[in-house]
Amino acid sequence: MSTKIFVPCDTTALAMGADEVAARIEAQARQRGAEIELVRNGSRGLFWLEPLVEVETAAGRIAYGPVDEDDVEALFDAGLLVGETGHPLCQGLTEEIPYLKKQQRLTFARAGITDPVSIDDYRAHDGFKGLENALHLAPQAIVDEIKASGLRGRGGAAFPTGIKWQTVLDAEASQKYIVCNADEGDSGTFADRLVMECDPYMLIEGMTIAGLAVGATQGYIYLRSEYPVAQRIFNEAIARAEAAGYLGDDILGSGKTFHLEVRLGAGAYICGEETSLLESLEGKRGLVRAKPPLPAIVGLFGQPTVVNNVLSLAAVPFILDQGGQAYADYGRGRSRGTLPFQLAGNVKRGGLIELAFGPSLRELMEDFGGGTFSERPLRAVQVGGPLGAYLPESQWDLPLDYEAFAAVGAVLGHGGVVMFDDTVDMAEQARFSMEFCTVESCGKCTPCRIGSTRGVEVIDRIRAGENREANLELLTDLCETMVDGSLCAMGGMTPFPVQSAMKHFPDDFQR
Ligand SMILES: Cc1cc2nc3c(=O)[nH]c(=O)nc-3n(C[C@H](O)[C@H](O)[C@H](O)COP(=O)(O)O)c2cc1C
Ligand code: SF4
Repeated sequence: MSTKIFVPCDTTALAMGADEVAARIEAQARQRGAEIELVRNGSRGLFWLEPLVEVETAAGRIAYGPVDEDDVEALFDAGLLVGETGHPLCQGLTEEIPYLKKQQRLTFARAGITDPVSIDDYRAHDGFKGLENALHLAPQAIVDEIKASGLRGRGGAAFPTGIKWQTVLDAEASQKYIVCNADEGDSGTFADRLVMECDPYMLIEGMTIAGLAVGATQGYIYLRSEYPVAQRIFNEAIARAEAAGYLGDDILGSGKTFHLEVRLGAGAYICGEETSLLESLEGKRGLVRAKPPLPAIVGLFGQPTVVNNVLSLAAVPFILDQGGQAYADYGRGRSRGTLPFQLAGNVKRGGLIELAFGPSLRELMEDFGGGTFSERPLRAVQVGGPLGAYLPESQWDLPLDYEAFAAVGAVLGHGGVVMFDDTVDMAEQARFSMEFCTVESCGKCTPCRIGSTRGVEVIDRIRAGENREANLELLTDLCETMVDGSLCAMGGMTPFPVQSAMKHFPDDFQR
């Protein structure tokens, strides 16, 4: 009987040498005359253990990691093929690893378990059940289910997804579109990529359900070009889904139509902003459009368009399978369901942690992350991407929910958590925020285009000790002007990290 061995094929595992490990495993098995079936699964998201090799046994999968290609021979000697647990790299049963066991995985339930492009595997793990239900529902009933789930946009603004879908459903038009925002530009984030590389049919299913809900027959995924592995896996999944009748002109014999195509971005952070993204999809420069009109009314090619983040759309199959209430049963307050947090920066155990809203930032960083990689004291955390505030220790016990964060001028955004130890210079971080804006601003409005350049200059003067108090006052004024006068959140939120650095780490501006 052959032994099933799993070696992940996502970008992180590949970067850590997963292909080389897979090749060594095959060579060792050949050499020893052992029959194995090597499956290239998705990642479990436990990045500090990548490449994480798993072996199927009667008791469940046994994990070994992080495996270097040079470890393979010794692992075979130590009984890898029968799941022996004596080797120091053995982590025991995968499902029992506390980092994984303590999570509430709704969206990432299949990640790392299945072969990402196998439709049979997807179906065997509850795949396409939501779509099958949706095919028998009226559009309004689908939208009602999403409303009942309490799902809010996971791309940053946390806007209720059901209300957005209702607006598009109610708009009269001969053509409507579903656009998936897979630009994933926030620092330290990778959840969208993991969806596309580890469980692509879930996103295909979510987008198809969105199409059925609002009456759109065409969908586009706007994918950042820095994700070539996601592009390859996702395109293969689209082709297989079409061949199997899950996409196309007659989905599962229902007579309903939905087509999907991937479009690549060109590396601009601002093209993640939804209106700029639509311009770029239309083949134009990524300039932000004034709102109103909302994309839900006048979107892609002037037609009503749902623009949703990958994680928002990836939550949809679960909701249509288990019901909106089952999703809403997780979370707290107005933050319902789960958020896949992404732990990065100076952290011992970085990776993906899907949790119901509610636990504290400290639990995330300490219980899961294990503190800093450098083992120096943790000093600051930036949550929600490059436009998110820096949080000092006094705010680490805040519950992870949208409202609790908003109350202190912070954002959860896309769930990116970037940790910094006590060697960080927060005045330098503030400068970086302004500089980032100078590079990434679309240039359409003055407070952002000119303000960010002036911001860099003023911070440079403060750091050089030139008229420090007057320049700090000027920086405060400049931040207020950017917040109040910018057309979109790029210029409007760039001051958040700057203001939070000034407020919570004032000493760094006095050095
Ligand atoms: C500067 C800027 C960059 C953004 N980048 C992204 C991004 O990379 N991915 C994303 O999903 N949303 C991004 N957004 C948010 C989108 O504009 C939009 O709110 C989102 O795609 C809506 O989907 P959702 O409701 O599912 O979150 C960005 C917004 C701004 C202002
Ligand atoms: S705030 Fe910046 S990115 Fe947004 S429209 Fe104005 S110039 Fe463009």
